[in-house]
Amino acid sequence: MKEKIDEITQEALKEIESAKGDRASLEAARVKYLGRKGMITELFKSMAQVDPAERPEAGRLINILKDNVTKALDDQLLSLAKVEEAGGRLDITLPGISRRLGKKHPITKTIDEILGIFISLGFRVVEGPEIETEYYNFEALNIPLEHPSRDAFDTFYIETVDRRPETVDQKYLLRSHTSPVQIRFMEKNKPPFSIVVPGKVYRPDATDASHSFMFHQVEGLAVGDNIRFSDLKGILSIFARRIFGSKTRLRFRPSFFPFTEPSAEVDISCIICKGQGKCSVCGGKGWLEILGAGMVNPRVFENVGYDSEKITGLAFGMGVERIAMLKYGIDDIRLFFENDIRFLRQF
Ligand code: PHE
Repeated sequence: MKEKIDEITQEALKEIESAKGDRASLEAARVKYLGRKGMITELFKSMAQVDPAERPEAGRLINILKDNVTKALDDQLLSLAKVEEAGGRLDITLPGISRRLGKKHPITKTIDEILGIFISLGFRVVEGPEIETEYYNFEALNIPLEHPSRDAFDTFYIETVDRRPETVDQKYLLRSHTSPVQIRFMEKNKPPFSIVVPGKVYRPDATDASHSFMFHQVEGLAVGDNIRFSDLKGILSIFARRIFGSKTRLRFRPSFFPFTEPSAEVDISCIICKGQGKCSVCGGKGWLEILGAGMVNPRVFENVGYDSEKITGLAFGMGVERIAMLKYGIDDIRLFFENDIRFLRQF
């Protein structure tokens, strides 16, 4: 009896092992050993012929055999189920798993589009720090001490842990515009060059539908031997038509910035009422302000060691949120920063 049990044990385990991964063969093995007429079932039935003295031991061995075979079969079926679950078998009739793709934030998208236009006109992209010194944010840009934009109500001044001797007597602030990057770039480079500078800027404005304490700008600066106001007009006209459509008209209004002379504020014809002055977006004016611009003030060139008699340049700065709002018809700047997926999904 014992030999017979050992023999069946070996045979069964071998057969189950070789049926690995094949559901039909595993099922056949189950029937062959554990089925109603299976070999193990037959063994139990043959107990009647066993010498009563040997019966308990024989019964124990057959039970062990049964347990081993059952466990071997279960293990194989379990790993088969895992393989199938992992796609080992493909049910092409099942509905697919849809995964929502992430996408760019509308502000990032708008920045990319703006930069792309200027890159195609020969500009290259440069960036600068968001924590600035008063020198770069104001002085070097010809913004005098008494200028209102330097007031604590208009600028985030910050404490700094920078204790290098050359910086201890500097006041630090979150840059209020991207123009300081003009200075940083010119200190390290010689003309001619054309750069665009994207980035975050900070002003302690009370938040409402059109104000945010942080927003984005794209600054432009082209410097060379014979840069003229007509270049500024040409570049900005191309930009406005590409971003707002070929019918867009431009208007230059005289303005003032300490770092440009002359300076202009640039409007586009209202993209909603097509400049007719008939809608609330342009307030019935027909024009929408989109950026500040001008010819680089010679004093700025002197501050970076350029020869202001020979060198000329144009500069402009635009608010990205404003452009995105006009382009996509968004009426509240706060929507950009609330991370509401229902809003962001639309771009
Ligand atoms: N720095 C100005 C602002 O933030 C914009 C500007 C940039 C104007 C360059 C002229 C030239 O309002």
